[in-house]
Amino acid sequence: MLSRRDFLAGATAALATTLPVHLGHAANAGTGLNEVARRSGRIFGAAVRMDQVAAEPRLADAIASQCGMLTPEIHLKWNSIEYRKGQVWYQPVDALVKHARRQGQMIYGHTLIWEQGTPDWALHHLHHEKDWDFIAAHFERLLKRYRADIPVWDVVNEPIDTQNGSNGLRRNTFQRIFGSGYIEQALHTARHFAPEAKLMLNDYSFEYDNYVEADRRRAFLKLLEKLKAKGVPLDGVGIQAHLDLGKGPLRHQTIAPFLQAIADMGLEIYITELDVKERDYRATAAIRDQRVADEVARYLDIALDQRAVKGVTTWGLSDKHSWLKVERGDRVDRRRYGNPAPNRGLPYDVSMKPKLMYKALERSLGGSLS
Ligand code: XIL
Repeated sequence: MLSRRDFLAGATAALATTLPVHLGHAANAGTGLNEVARRSGRIFGAAVRMDQVAAEPRLADAIASQCGMLTPEIHLKWNSIEYRKGQVWYQPVDALVKHARRQGQMIYGHTLIWEQGTPDWALHHLHHEKDWDFIAAHFERLLKRYRADIPVWDVVNEPIDTQNGSNGLRRNTFQRIFGSGYIEQALHTARHFAPEAKLMLNDYSFEYDNYVEADRRRAFLKLLEKLKAKGVPLDGVGIQAHLDLGKGPLRHQTIAPFLQAIADMGLEIYITELDVKERDYRATAAIRDQRVADEVARYLDIALDQRAVKGVTTWGLSDKHSWLKVERGDRVDRRRYGNPAPNRGLPYDVSMKPKLMYKALERSLGGSLS
């Protein structure tokens, strides 16, 4: 066993390689959750939207005091960068970069390839032209422009699909046109334009004990093993960790060996999109918050036992902006499960009051590896 001191020395060195650009500043990024995480050599962050940060001083304050790392929730996606062909919109990313730099925060680059985040015109172009150079040009403009400011990138988002996929890989436009080798091609292309960046694959539903998620874990490990065996440039993985109170108990024997297998391949792990989907909205807010906090504590106590886990990001800070509220809320059977608006699966409520989930994060980030 490593002593805590040895671990901290190792973790600091690991972090220095992870965050070549902003480590010095991030160390001063205020108090709060990042400060707690930093004591065990980790980093805490949240997904943000610049328009929301600019409009809401209390959100901006919480982001400033809690986060050492920010993930643009939408601004780097192709359908934000170039929603209409030829109309390139860097402005929100530039603003975020400036904002983060002022506060000594690192930016986690999300994401270069994601079919759902690709504008229709670009998908049409790919279908007709079957043109990798077109994808490479998209990589080039982002990786070069943000070279000094974004040290880590989700190169491919959500490549796994064990239900309708081909050998466990999602049959998206990229896979159909370029074959399953599109993932390694994307990693090579990213490495070409970003020799120093950390290159990641990011995916979801690896947490629970059901056959779909068991298949997904197997497929993901198989993909990683293949990429490593071929020497493809891959530095780490993002585990989205959208937890779900309807999916049954989280088990140590499911999650720990999965993370260990990734660590054994020499890959870094970031928890990239942590939040909790509720299923039953009828209880009091206090009870619901306890359930959410317990789920987060249960997950992080397992995940943060793994040294390869270098950071934790929540998918937003406040319930007010949760994608679960916006995109899923309307599908709930209200007569049976109550009113889902809002889902209470983030650390702050809609009026920016910290909830029990905040405490759970603080305890798990602080208690880990000590
Ligand atoms: C979501 C954003 O939160 C939404 O605002 C947007 O409309 C769609 O994308 N997995 C991912 C994220 O990797 O990029 C998604 O973010 C949530 C699921």
